[in-house]
Amino acid sequence: MKRNSARLVSEQPLSMEEDLFIRPQRLDEFIGQAKVINKLSMFIKAAKARGEPLDHTLFCGPPGLGKTTLAGVVAREMGGELKTTTGPAISRTGDLAAILSSLKPKDVFFIDEIHRLSPQVEEILYSAMEDFFLNIIIGKGPMARSIRLTLPKFTLIGATTKPTLLSAPLRGRFGIIEQLEYYSVDELAEIVIRGASVLSIAIEEREAALEIAKRSRGTPRVALRLLKRVRDIAEAQKKERVDLRIAKRALDILGIDDEGIDEQERRLLSVLIELFGGGPVGLSTLAAAMSEEERTVEEIYEPFLLRNGLLERTKVGRIATKKAYERLGLPYFKGTREGEENLHLF
Ligand SMILES: Nc1ncnc2c1ncn2[C@@H]1O[C@H](COP(=O)(O)OP(=O)(O)OP(=O)(O)O)[C@@H](O)[C@H]1O
Ligand SMILES: [Mg+2]
Repeated sequence: MKRNSARLVSEQPLSMEEDLFIRPQRLDEFIGQAKVINKLSMFIKAAKARGEPLDHTLFCGPPGLGKTTLAGVVAREMGGELKTTTGPAISRTGDLAAILSSLKPKDVFFIDEIHRLSPQVEEILYSAMEDFFLNIIIGKGPMARSIRLTLPKFTLIGATTKPTLLSAPLRGRFGIIEQLEYYSVDELAEIVIRGASVLSIAIEEREAALEIAKRSRGTPRVALRLLKRVRDIAEAQKKERVDLRIAKRALDILGIDDEGIDEQERRLLSVLIELFGGGPVGLSTLAAAMSEEERTVEEIYEPFLLRNGLLERTKVGRIATKKAYERLGLPYFKGTREGEENLHLF
C-alpha cells in the first residue's frame, strides 16, 4: 500500500476558511519580501497617480511563499476586484473569453500556475494583455465570423512555481517580474505571532514563535500549519499558552526536527544510506524501496533535502551527502581512502 503523503510540512494550500483570516490584506501588513514590496508599492503609487492599471505582473517562486496573497494585496491596493483562475482550469479559449469580458476597469485577473496554460489560450491572452482586445470567432465553417471585443484596462497577475516553463512571448508581456525568496527565521516568527493573534492562540514568548519559525523551511504556509498543530497539542495537554517548552515538545511530537526536516524525508535518507550504502541509486529503485510513487519522492520529499545539501541528484542516481549521515548520526566513510576500501567490504 502506498503511504499517505499528506504531511505537516506540506506546501499545499491551507483550507480556504483558514486562509481568509490569516492572509495579509495590505502592502504594509505584508511581512518579509521587502525588496519586492518596496518596488510594488512604488509601481502601484505611480500607476494610481496616472490613473492607469498596474502593469501586468508575474510572481515566481516556490509554493507557499505568498504569490496568491500578494495578488490579493495588489487588487485591494488598486481598488479593484480579484478574479482568480488557474492555468489548467482554462481549457478552452471560450472560458478565457468569458472571464476577460467580465472584467471591470482596475480589476486584477489572477492566473495561478500560469505555466500550465494551453498554447491556444495563451495566444488569446497575448492581444488581451497587450492591446486590451479579444478576437472572438462566432459560428462555424463558412458562416464563422470574427468579432473584436474591447476590454477594460485590467492587470493580469500570473503566478508560477516554474518560470522556466513559461513561453518567451508570454513572459515578454509582463512589465513586472518578481521572484519571491524564502523567508528569514525572524520574518517567519513575525508571521507566526501575527497568525497566532488572528487565530487567538496565546503565544507566551517570542522564543516559542522562533522555534516554530526555525522549523518552517523558510515558508509562511508551513509556519502557519505548524502553529496550528502546536496549538492542538498545547490544548490536548490542557495548556492555555504556548511557551518555548511546549512549542519544542509539540514539534518533537510532530516529528519535525530543528531544521524542519520531517519523518518522511528522514526515512528517505535512512533508506538511501542503510539499504543502498548512501547511493548512487536510481529514483525508481529508491521509490520502490520506500513504497512510494516516483513522483512523490521527486516532487515532495527530495526538494527540501536538495535545497539543504543533504541529497544530491547525479546522472548515476541519488547520493546521500556527508551532512545527511551527520543528520542521522551515522558514520560517514565515503570520499576518504579508507572509506573507499570500506565500501568494497559491503
Ligand atoms: N508575507 C506573509 N505574511 C503573512 N502570511 C503570509 C505571507 N505570505 C504568505 N502568507 C500565508 O502563507 C500561506 C501561503 O501563501 P500563498 O497561498 O499566498 O502562497 P503561494 O505562493 O500562492 O503558494 P502556491 O504556489 O502553493 O499557490 C497563506 O496562508 C498566507 O496567508
Ligand atoms: Mg497560490
